[in-house]
Amino acid sequence: MQPSFAHLCLLLLVFLLVWPCSPQEQEHDGDGALHESFLRCVASLSPATTDPSRLVHAPSEASYPSLLNATIQNLRFASPRTPRPALLLTPATVADARACVACCRRHGLTVRVRSGGHDYEGLSYRSVPPRAAGARPFAVVDVAALGGVRVDAARREARVGPGATLGELYYAVARDSGGSLGFPAGICPTVCVGGHVSGGGFGPMMRKHGLAADNVVDAEVVDAEGRLLDRAAMGEGLFWALRGGGGGSFGVVVSWTVRLVPVPPVVSTFNVRRLLRRGDRRQAESTVRLLTKWQRVAHALPDDLFVKAAIEPKLDAPGERRPLVTFKSLFLGNCSSMVAEMSTHLPELGVTPSDCRDMSWIQSMLYFYGYTDGQPAEVLLDRTLQPKEYYKVKLDYLTSPIPAAGLRGLLARIVEDGGGSIDIDPQGGAMGATPESATPYAHRRGYLYNVQYFVKWHGGAGGEEEEGHLGWVRGVHGFMAPYVSSGPRAAYVNFRDLDLGMNVEGETSYEKARAWGEVYFRGNFRRLAMVKAEVDPEQVFWSEQSIPPLFVERQSESGLVSDT
Ligand SMILES: Cc1cc2nc3c(=O)[nH]c(=O)nc-3n(C[C@H](O)[C@H](O)[C@H](O)COP(=O)(O)OP(=O)(O)OC[C@H]3O[C@@H](n4cnc5c(N)ncnc54)[C@H](O)[C@@H]3O)c2cc1C
Ligand SMILES: *[C@@H]1O[C@H](CO)[C@@H](O)[C@H](O)[C@H]1NC(C)=O
Ligand SMILES: *[C@@H]1O[C@H](CO)[C@@H](O)[C@H](O)[C@H]1NC(C)=O
Repeated sequence: MQPSFAHLCLLLLVFLLVWPCSPQEQEHDGDGALHESFLRCVASLSPATTDPSRLVHAPSEASYPSLLNATIQNLRFASPRTPRPALLLTPATVADARACVACCRRHGLTVRVRSGGHDYEGLSYRSVPPRAAGARPFAVVDVAALGGVRVDAARREARVGPGATLGELYYAVARDSGGSLGFPAGICPTVCVGGHVSGGGFGPMMRKHGLAADNVVDAEVVDAEGRLLDRAAMGEGLFWALRGGGGGSFGVVVSWTVRLVPVPPVVSTFNVRRLLRRGDRRQAESTVRLLTKWQRVAHALPDDLFVKAAIEPKLDAPGERRPLVTFKSLFLGNCSSMVAEMSTHLPELGVTPSDCRDMSWIQSMLYFYGYTDGQPAEVLLDRTLQPKEYYKVKLDYLTSPIPAAGLRGLLARIVEDGGGSIDIDPQGGAMGATPESATPYAHRRGYLYNVQYFVKWHGGAGGEEEEGHLGWVRGVHGFMAPYVSSGPRAAYVNFRDLDLGMNVEGETSYEKARAWGEVYFRGNFRRLAMVKAEVDPEQVFWSEQSIPPLFVERQSESGLVSDT
């Protein structure tokens, strides 16, 4: 492609934007000078901040290790060997956040944004070694303090800060609507909405109401220049990209306004288990037949009915691992209706009234997370509920049911040494009805299930034990290749997986990044890259899987109206 005049102008503009601040400000005589200069910058840009030292933390300070550690959820990235940010920034207000981003840009620091720290690869707070020659140092802008949920039950909306957890959001919505409203998002109560909604966000109401990101009506974002933009100011291109394009690429989301959904006063749940007995081939085969029938119907059930399958190893006797298959359900109606639906669509599972429990929607969110004994809803507010562990996760999509041979292979692998667990979640319903280009989440019509492979351990990072577990999860993923989506084989950005590929600083390009970008986003990756070129051409927001900029002649292609 010949570089056009517009293209050259854009490059010149980028150059001018970078130029004035790089030469003087990058030559710091060490961390101390950077820290001092940064404090002065924040003080000048956020004058209301009485004590900038409370939000700017250098590695030499006593407060730094525990602040950085606070929300490192995956212990693989909590070791002293993990590359740390040159500065950890903890804005307490939106004005602080704006100053922090603007000062990072002036100091030649790239920005990683952290809300809840659940990123499976830790990209919100760590870089991946080795460091590329010429890599810019990075700062972490941690917006955990920008929380809060304001529910407007009459308008069926809530405004929520990025540092609010899903548990806090669910709790406030249920409380302030008298149990009449809910929100469709993930099951882990400690995940924060900052990252979760940015990457999509699916959970047991997705078949009825879609993703968390599908239910966003407005957002406020601090862009690479430190400006605060709402939907009207940012334009529909950036607003589109924020709702599923993955966090950490376009700016710091400082609030979401979400549409709440009606939930009935009584919903119902069941967990039906099949523990495979040793040497019982007949039982194993009947379980394979059950999983086969379930796969034929679960994606096409009425939207009110979500029935997933989880396969995990159960330690029966010392050294004896047996596959345990659990069907878990949420129905937006009572048990008598649920049992009737199940006997119509999947009589093979044999769900009876005694398997089923009526409860409020907020209780069902606890139940789905594993608190099945009627614990109080306040449990959802505990920010330490999810234990910190060492883990690796991968995800696939099914466009057709896994055949019996594949299911037998999964049941065999689940009991291997070092093995983990597998969840299969049905999509269909609202997930399939949404057009592929409506949001960046591209796995819509025809993507019947997602399959999640988890492995976790306790024995530390970087050793033989880790190698064994990583080998298991990669092995299962390899085994599944013939049975899952292809062209390309798909993944989900909220289940971040660096095995798919990475940017290298200084060589980040759209063409190279397509290898993993189209796995997450299919054709939507191109539009994401065009939005990136418009809102962050310098890549102030950079990580190993940030969206690279794609500079094209016709800027309007990305949906942003530009009058230049
Ligand atoms: C135990 C567990 C259970 C999970 N269950 C589900 C589930 O049921 N459904 C599901 O869909 N996902 C699930 N996830 C994945 C989860 O949704 C993602 O990891 C999510 O991105 C985490 O958001 P966070 O803010 O907690 O994490 P962070 O690590 O802080 O952020 C994740 C990503 O978003 C970026 N980001 C964070 N905050 C902002 C912001 N304010 N503005 C812009 N970018 C930002 C980060 O830079 C990073 O790239 C689960 C994860 C875990 C660990
Ligand atoms: C970080 O937290 C983990 C687990 O909570 C702990 O093992 C580790 O020692 C902590 N590191 C620091 C520097 O606080
Ligand atoms: C369950 O719900 C159905 C449909 O809303 C209703 O007709 C029925 O009376 C309810 N049953 C019980 C036991 O509440």
